[in-house]
Formats: sequence, C-alpha cells, structure tokens
Amino acid sequence: MQLSRRVTDTPPYLFHLIDEKRKAAQKKGIDVISLAIGDPDQPTPSFVLDLMDEEMRDPRNHSYPSYKGEPDFCKAVAKWFDGRFGVELDPETEIMAVIGAKDAVSHLPFVFLDPGDSALVTDPGYPVYEAAIGFAGGKVIRVPLVEENGFLPDLGAISPRDADLAKIMFINYPNNPTSAVAEKSFFQRLVTFAVKHDIVILSDNAYSEVYFEKADRPISIMSVKGAKQIAIEIHSFSKTFNMTGWRVGFVTGGKDLINAFLTLKSNFDSGVFMAIQRVAARALEHPEAATFNKERTALFKNRRDRIARVLTDLGLRFQLPRASYYFWVRIPDSYPSSVEFCANLLEEKGLIVTPGIGYGPSGERFFRLSMTSPDERIDQGLERLKAFIKELL
Ligand code: MLT
Repeated sequence: MQLSRRVTDTPPYLFHLIDEKRKAAQKKGIDVISLAIGDPDQPTPSFVLDLMDEEMRDPRNHSYPSYKGEPDFCKAVAKWFDGRFGVELDPETEIMAVIGAKDAVSHLPFVFLDPGDSALVTDPGYPVYEAAIGFAGGKVIRVPLVEENGFLPDLGAISPRDADLAKIMFINYPNNPTSAVAEKSFFQRLVTFAVKHDIVILSDNAYSEVYFEKADRPISIMSVKGAKQIAIEIHSFSKTFNMTGWRVGFVTGGKDLINAFLTLKSNFDSGVFMAIQRVAARALEHPEAATFNKERTALFKNRRDRIARVLTDLGLRFQLPRASYYFWVRIPDSYPSSVEFCANLLEEKGLIVTPGIGYGPSGERFFRLSMTSPDERIDQGLERLKAFIKELL
C-alpha cells in the first residue's frame, strides 16, 4: 500500500494524539484528568433535546437535505445574525449550512487554492487550518501572534510579497488558543488589507457566543463595509448550545463565495441531517435560549475567575481570557519545551493540558488549559498542577 503524500506529510490531529495518550495512561491505571479539548462538559440543553424528539420523528426530515441548507434554517440564521451582529444577510444566497465549523475550515482551502498557492495562517492557530491548506496542496505562510500585540496579527509586518502571494488568510477571533478578542478597528484594517492584496479572509467565529463581559462581546467581520465580497465567516452551534457532537454550523459571505463553496460541498457530502438543521434553527429563536446562554456564561466566568486565581498564585504568566474556553499560559522558564512540560505533567500527575507547539512554532513556550470539565475535576486538576509546579521550585 502506498499512501498519498497528502496523508504521509500531515501529522496526526493534535486531539487524536492527546486522546491516545489519555487512553494509554488510563490503561496503566492512572486517574487522568483532561483539561485539553474544548468540549463542554454540560449536556445539550433539554429544550434542544425536546425539539429533537419532535424533529427526528418527522419523516419529512429523513431524506437527503438540500445541499445549501434548508430554507427555514437559513432564514432563522439570517434573523439571528441581524439581531446579534446587526448584519443583514440574504438567506437564499449568503448563508450555507455546514457539518460543524471543522467541515468549513477543512474544505474551504480547496475552493481557493491550487497546488503551490500560498495561504496566511496565524501562529499559534487551530491546527486544522494548516492541515487543510496542506491537503489542498497549498503553502502555509505563518503570521505570528504575540502577546505584546494582544495576540492580533501585525498586518504591517507581513511582507508585500507574501501578502500578494497569499490567496486566503485564516483568522479566528475570539481566538483559539490565545482567547484574544478583536475589535472592529482590527477587522476594518483586515478588510482593507485583503482588498489591497486580493485575499479571501476565512474568519472562524466559532466562539462568538463564549465571552464573559458585555464589553468583550465579539463582533462579526460581516459588519465591516465591503467584507461580504472578500470574506467567509464560519459559525458553529457546538459551543453556543453545547452541541459539539451534533455537527452543525453555517457559513456566511457574499453570493459568489458561497456559490463556489457549494460547488465543492455538494460534490463532497450530502449536507446536515434535516432534523438537526430544524432543531438548530428553532433553538436560535427559542425563548429559553437567552436564559441558557446567560447561565452558560455565568458558569464559565466563574470557572475562569477561579482558575485565574490559582494560576496567579502559582506565578504562571497568562492573559485573562476575554472569550473562548481557554487559558494560554507560559510554561515555566526552566522547561525546555511545551511538549516536555505536558508529557511530564501527565506522567507525574495524571493531568492533560495541550502543548502550545501543537498550534504552531509561536506556541512553543505555552500550554493551553480548557475550562470545559466539571468543576470538581477542574479543582482536582488545579491541585495537581499546583503540586507539579511547586516541585519545580
Ligand atoms: C479545541 O479544543 O480546540 C476544539 O474543541 C477542537 C475541535 O474543535 O476540533
């Protein structure tokens, strides 16, 4: 058997590797606590489950869905988008359903890149951006995100040659893994940059609803004049409604961009189970949605503040997350690498966090800690981290 270079040149998915490590440690009898993947510990809310009971039993939902997304799904998204971001979208041409944000992230590079084309990716960044560019035969140009710049890319530092070569740029605010938030002025500069260099912006907004203060409420790139023509924004129900396993999301953008993606997607898959689309659409408009979101925010804010206190007491360096589920923390200076730090933490204390290098070279001096485990497991995990750090001193 000869595998394609597409596969042999691609490293295993970060969280698949971490899963394997967790299983191996559990096999040895270790009680493993994982603060690695951002998968909410809380169940999908019961009002969503009730909707699913109805929708899954409706035989009209059992056949192939439309490739672009059901009209009622797209209409509900358009209404929500207008209310949430103040942006009007045409449900018929500017919205498309996807099988979770990862479906969009992993397939969009195929729409814009021919083999050998270049793509800008923020570093650190969600690992699928680079993998997908690689699968499409593209070349990655990394744009470092540094603390001094609030983990925003310095667009002025991208060489004009790289900017002209690049056909797409992945952007992700609220940011995974750094949890930085971007203001409108940044998106305005980004749109100007993209127009100047003829770059399509792929804006991953999967964490738009996971924020802690009103002032940090994430915005949509679509609210910037001219963005629709040069950007696609990716959204997910995974984090908004604790629906990671359901695989449903949507993309927004100008008609031509959406149409191009539809050509690819309609050849690759047959869309999202109609019952799930209808549940998602109804969830957006459901009277219990606001209360659920409020409670979810309170839960994560409480966790964030508790974790922040412990990390501060331990003398670890980090910026307080303004959105998303993640703490992006510097490893102690005495440690040679984030992989060694995380490997020893697992081996000695049974605690899994994600090594920063998994998100790109600029992540090397960091680890990522996710707040998506039950409170008591987070507390136990922090006790283990405390013991580990104290033994270093
Ligand atoms: C994360 O932990 O970064 C994400 O939840 C992983 C994913 O979406 O695949």
